[in-house]
Amino acid sequence: MNIAIITGSAGLIGSEAVAFFADKFDKIIGVDNNLRQYFFGEDGDTSWNKNRLQSGYVNYEHVAIDIRDEVAVNDLFAKYGSDIKLVLHAAAQPSHDWAAREPYTDFTVNANGTLNLLENTRKHCDKAVFIFTSTNKVYGDNPNFLPLIETDTRWEIDENHPYYKNGIDEKMSIDHTKHSLFGASKVAADILVQEYGNYFGMNTGVFRGGCLTGPNHSGAQLHGFLAYLMKCAISGQQYTIFGYKGKQVRDNIHSFDLVNMFWHFYQKPKPGAVYNAGGGRYANCSMLEAISVCEEISGQTMNYAYSDTNRIGDHIWYISDLSSFIADYPDWYYKYDLTTTLKQIHDGILARSIETVK
Ligand SMILES: NC(=O)c1ccc[n+]([C@@H]2O[C@H](COP(=O)([O-])OP(=O)(O)OC[C@H]3O[C@@H](n4cnc5c(N)ncnc54)[C@H](O)[C@@H]3O)[C@@H](O)[C@H]2O)c1
Repeated sequence: MNIAIITGSAGLIGSEAVAFFADKFDKIIGVDNNLRQYFFGEDGDTSWNKNRLQSGYVNYEHVAIDIRDEVAVNDLFAKYGSDIKLVLHAAAQPSHDWAAREPYTDFTVNANGTLNLLENTRKHCDKAVFIFTSTNKVYGDNPNFLPLIETDTRWEIDENHPYYKNGIDEKMSIDHTKHSLFGASKVAADILVQEYGNYFGMNTGVFRGGCLTGPNHSGAQLHGFLAYLMKCAISGQQYTIFGYKGKQVRDNIHSFDLVNMFWHFYQKPKPGAVYNAGGGRYANCSMLEAISVCEEISGQTMNYAYSDTNRIGDHIWYISDLSSFIADYPDWYYKYDLTTTLKQIHDGILARSIETVK
């Protein structure tokens, strides 16, 4: 039997992965205890997505355990042993602002939870491919010290800088920088995943995400930038821009395109590999630019406020360079540009609100 274990399966990336891999594995086991609702309240509730997967995919089994639970995770991996061919780890406390509220919860979910999954993979299915969704926050605020130039709608890097053409590559230092507590717990996990590849020779891969997005994100104020922005555009709820004149630039990759990267890696893994994974030069926007696209798609004028205080450690300009991944996996390329992704997010939010009203 070929089994894939997907953690965080009711979240954005996990649920996209369930849909993507359902016809490629005999069984998909999704691990998710809806901790996102605990982190972010009602906006973060992912139970609608879990229900969608349970009714949509016959070979999907949902297991509502906590990835920190050593006994429960061991039992799950022991039950299926070497039938487990893929472990896709996308469960996390994902917000750098939230991490400061409960550093212990953040660290144990992100670091200890990852260690627990790695150890059980090593013990029960050491040939499996282990994929980890890391983050560009491992670079801390180092990107903020690049030579940036202000334009009418965005910050942009000096065109003479080597990062101008393709963005920031994996060689950027992860040291001497402010990570936020979230960045620190993800660094711990990121390095652990690399070590299980480099030290134990296991098929592990680290993908350092820029902004990950798509129609199945339960967007909340503290996490899920574009999904939350579009939610505010549709509902008229006030959106607050924090600092940098609203010109901070993020690159945005559709969850499908990211999971498709995982699929390429799964078929030809490189133990201990580390890749940046974002929208790159192909799909990126400043806050102001995103607001204008949301207004165009929703047909509403957005109600937004501006606060001078930026989020601690927030990036002013971040664009991922995917060249090293594309060099290793030349058949992969983006499918969704920013406007198409935002249209999908818009339609998804409307469809879900119609369902709720019913
Ligand atoms: N969304 C982004 O912009 C972004 C950017 C960079 C990196 N990432 C990383 O990508 C991964 C996936 O992000 P996402 O946007 O899909 O997040 P998400 O919050 O939508 O999904 C994560 C899921 O994990 C579950 N979960 C959390 N803690 C758990 C635990 N202890 N046990 C079991 N389940 C638990 C949550 O309930 C949630 O459904 C995370 O590791 C995140 O740090 C996300």
